[in-house]
Amino acid sequence: MTILVTGCAGFIGSNFVHTWLASSDETVINLDKLTYAGNLANLKSLQGDARHVFVHGDIGDRALVDQLLREHQPRAVLNFAAESHVDRSIHGPGEFIQTNVMGTFHLLESVRAYWQVLPETQRQSFRFLHVSTDEVYGTLSPTDPPFAETKNYEPNSPYSASKAASDHLVRAWHHTYGLPVLTTNCSNNYGPFHFPEKLIPLVLLNALAGKALPIYGDGQQVRDWLYVQDHCRAITRVLDAGKVGETYNIGGWNEKPNLEVVNTLCAVLDELKPRADGKNYAEQITYVKDRPGHDRRYAIDARKVERELGWRPEETFETGIRKTVAWYLINQAWVEDVTSGAYRQWVGQQYGA
Ligand code: NAD
Ligand code: TYD
Repeated sequence: MTILVTGCAGFIGSNFVHTWLASSDETVINLDKLTYAGNLANLKSLQGDARHVFVHGDIGDRALVDQLLREHQPRAVLNFAAESHVDRSIHGPGEFIQTNVMGTFHLLESVRAYWQVLPETQRQSFRFLHVSTDEVYGTLSPTDPPFAETKNYEPNSPYSASKAASDHLVRAWHHTYGLPVLTTNCSNNYGPFHFPEKLIPLVLLNALAGKALPIYGDGQQVRDWLYVQDHCRAITRVLDAGKVGETYNIGGWNEKPNLEVVNTLCAVLDELKPRADGKNYAEQITYVKDRPGHDRRYAIDARKVERELGWRPEETFETGIRKTVAWYLINQAWVEDVTSGAYRQWVGQQYGA
């Protein structure tokens, strides 16, 4: 059997492919546009593995997706592909609408055409799983309960608004056409292959390079951190046993203010790779201008996925961050590969000299 996954040269998708193939021989067709965030180096260890077929292309390319579906007859399509960085969505929202909204629309239409003519048993068992984010729910005050699946959508950034739109399309394709969909809304991930534009890998690499560790605003914004492989296991569990048409919130029960995240990261680095001058990495922390419209707090109520599907995260923040730091320390070649010219251009634009 075969699954078609999209956007799996990126951070979460590539971790998903590795996790999947570690416990299954089911072939993975991986459709990715290879934007700045897509990196074949994330999949290097799968070179020559016939169970992984990489296809360079856009989820919005109907002819290509129709052909892939016809040719490979997948039993499921998992949509990871997206523009995913809030700060980039503020600088240029167009690509976010193009891929996250229009791309998801075209993908849904291709999948619907394929699914509608499948033989009955395959039609019944087929699934379209849409990978989404907790950011669609908006922001929480310190005393609000965490986001449950029943929380109304209140997206605040161009990124979260485009993901919210894609979630709505997926929902509508189920209610209107009967497409058997599943949606997951997950909190902030971290771990191996994380592109260093996001907080954790950016701070980690800046720390090692002796550069400033930029904290937006007062650093008291709260995120709910989940180790990426826990997220991948949750997606597999939802694919296997999730109820068609349902959404599942996935989170790590790890709410932390950004400043605490950065201090923890610095403390792990102090231990694993002490600074040559004997000082602490935390001395490199620098407060910078806040992100416009910065959401104050995200937190996930992950009780539904635990109650109905028996999933719980295996890593705590402390174990996950240690694994992450260790991974970056031994994967310098990967770091050099991804921090190329285009990356430096972004850092210059976002943080100045
Ligand atoms: P990422 O930016 O690291 O990777 C996105 C991948 O999608 C890249 O490989 C890119 O080349 C590909 N892509 C972009 N546009 C495409 C297109 N039009 N067609 C085909 N491929 C395209 O993102 P990520 O962090 O791995 O996130 C994956 C998914 O998970 C996204 O849908 C994101 O919204 C969601 N999500 C991310 C997080 C997080 O913390 N990173 C949390 C919750 C949900
Ligand atoms: P990020 O990793 O971009 O994820 P998201 O915006 O999707 O939650 O940012 C995580 C938090 O860290 C967010 O509150 C913004 C903050 N942040 C900084 O303080 N400095 C930085 O350089 C970056 C990239 C993020």
